[in-house]
Amino acid sequence: MEKFKGFIVRKGADGKPSGSLEELSRADLPAGDVTVAVAYSTVNYKDGLAVTGAPGVIRNFPLVPGIDFSGTVLESQSPDYKVGDEVVATGWGLGEKHWGGLAQLARVPASFLVKLPAGLSLKRAMAIGTAGFTAMQSVIALERHGLTPSQKEVAVTGAVGGVGSIAIAILAKLGHNVVASTGRAGEHNYLYSLGASSVVDRALLATPSGRPMDAERWSGAVDTVGGETLAGLIRTMVSNASIAACGVAGGPNVATTVFPFILRGVNLLGINSVMVPYAGRVEIWRRLVADLPMDKLDSLTSEAGLDDLVEVAKAILKGQVRGRTVIKL
Ligand SMILES: NC(=O)c1ccc[n+]([C@@H]2O[C@H](COP(=O)([O-])OP(=O)(O)OC[C@H]3O[C@@H](n4cnc5c(N)ncnc54)[C@H](OP(=O)(O)O)[C@@H]3O)[C@@H](O)[C@H]2O)c1
Repeated sequence: MEKFKGFIVRKGADGKPSGSLEELSRADLPAGDVTVAVAYSTVNYKDGLAVTGAPGVIRNFPLVPGIDFSGTVLESQSPDYKVGDEVVATGWGLGEKHWGGLAQLARVPASFLVKLPAGLSLKRAMAIGTAGFTAMQSVIALERHGLTPSQKEVAVTGAVGGVGSIAIAILAKLGHNVVASTGRAGEHNYLYSLGASSVVDRALLATPSGRPMDAERWSGAVDTVGGETLAGLIRTMVSNASIAACGVAGGPNVATTVFPFILRGVNLLGINSVMVPYAGRVEIWRRLVADLPMDKLDSLTSEAGLDDLVEVAKAILKGQVRGRTVIKL
């Protein structure tokens, strides 16, 4: 495959980034020791920003966006991967600093890759993608800080989105009492189908109360929203409970006081899926195979092609995508 199709973002004469579908050459690929025939990539929130030319994600131009992919090794200079191996890549600046997954070929350092976990197809690996990886990483962080299954309520915010949907499916399978927080009144049945035991309107958490703390409710939380929503969670966690803070869909600024931390022992756990060392990645993928029900994963996944990419990217930024969208390359 000397020529291949890919979506590439270039900086125009006006200095503004803009992306389009192009025919690319193998010689265009960046340096790296493994070349992969990409089977699937996905549209995460960050990809929505990159594909539509929003500033802040892409650091080197021109660049193929796509912060994750799955595929089959075509060439390898690494002793760890051989031709024909099925692999998955997430993070490490893929689709930000290094050419990413939204093209039919990718070339990356071997350190970006893990072998496709046993029990997953290339498509399901990307139905999970960075969003599902982050959801599992968040759940593991909560467990390490003492969260165990019980009747106590665990909140998932941005529930209809990719991270939120997968976090609900995992937590419910593990026996937690999951409360989904969403702005989409029409998607409550979808959230129940993933395993949520109740659904609340996202205004419940995002409306400032003017008090440093409110009534204790949540024994744990996966927050994909940030902003006022995260501030609301911090005010309403039970004593010694933890929040896995992984997202910013609702805004970056968090207005809080120190009181929930020093009077209730609330823990704010930062989640960064990009820089997880190899052993941690393998463990997160192992847990995904064990703890994410595949029927639920399939029910929250849609498939699209490169031709649909810009539309999906615009929709995810408007909060209109449900669950996960894989892009078939
Ligand atoms: N830390 C990491 O390593 C990491 C990795 C992956 C993703 N993330 C971040 O996690 C977040 C979610 O990613 P995703 O791929 O799941 O995106 P997504 O599919 O677009 O989901 C985001 C969800 O957030 C909610 N939302 C959107 N705009 C909102 C607003 N203005 N106020 C309140 N809620 C809003 C919506 O949920 P409802 O419709 O249900 O209300 C939306 O579905 C993003 O900020 C992303 O950058 C971080």
